[in-house]
Amino acid sequence: MERTFVMVKPNGVERGLVGEIVARFERRGFRLAGLKALRIDRALAERHYAEHAGKPFFESLVSFITSGPVVAMVWEGREAVRVARTMMGVTDSADAAPGTIRGDFSLSKEENVVHGSDSPDSAAREIALFFAGDELL
Ligand code: RTP
Ligand code: MG
Repeated sequence: MERTFVMVKPNGVERGLVGEIVARFERRGFRLAGLKALRIDRALAERHYAEHAGKPFFESLVSFITSGPVVAMVWEGREAVRVARTMMGVTDSADAAPGTIRGDFSLSKEENVVHGSDSPDSAAREIALFFAGDELL
């Protein structure tokens, strides 16, 4: 069964959206394989977002993602990576369809409430960055 990495970003935690987001993944039928709250430091942010290093928005992205606690999760189920991305909506929340997490809870391109892995390879890399083997069920 496929696994994906999902993270509630600092503005989602600050706005009290963790329960709503967890509930959506539960109701969709995914199995919760890991969950933790943490504060991301700069080193972890740079590794997590390594693909964006050098882009104009990189500094502000790192600054945002380290600005407060996040909630990191691993969800398991059929086509988990693809289905989670569909549930989140597109990157720029202004374009995200109603019914998606970004489309229901954000207007921002950068502070878009939630992160989800974009491929099974990214999921494996990101899960290993955030969770030790014995923290996963
Ligand atoms: P994520 O990685 O957070 O799940 O989002 P994503 O795949 O939909 O988007 P990605 O291209 O990977 O971008 C990562 C995050 O960087 C911020 N961003 N800002 N100002 C900009 O043009 C811009 N583009 C991207 C967003 O927070 C995006 O989620
Ligand atoms: Mg991405």
